[in-house]
Amino acid sequence: MPKVVYVGGAGQEHAVDATAGESVMAAAVKSGVPGIIGECGGNASCATCHVWVRDEFLHLLGEPGDEEEDLLEMAVSERRDGSRLGCQISVSPELDGLTVDVPPQQP
Ligand code: FES
Repeated sequence: MPKVVYVGGAGQEHAVDATAGESVMAAAVKSGVPGIIGECGGNASCATCHVWVRDEFLHLLGEPGDEEEDLLEMAVSERRDGSRLGCQISVSPELDGLTVDVPPQQP
């Protein structure tokens, strides 16, 4: 099972065993990771699943789609290079160990 690690603002880590095909948002919500809300259920319309993907994993992800890009541009509190919507990242075995930082506040 691919593992996803969510790091909170104070450095607290939550490691979650995700199912292949599950989104980074869904894996967090099912495990009660603080700070990942997923209000729209994964439809790329709320941005409450915003995460900052660590640099070393960015090359493993594709570019954000248009909808994701628009929402990141308009809705997130602090956009960084690694900003992504957790609901748009599908976990795969290749992403085992994926580490993301959770913003202190979601829109
Ligand atoms: S869950 Fe709403 S944009 Fe990701």
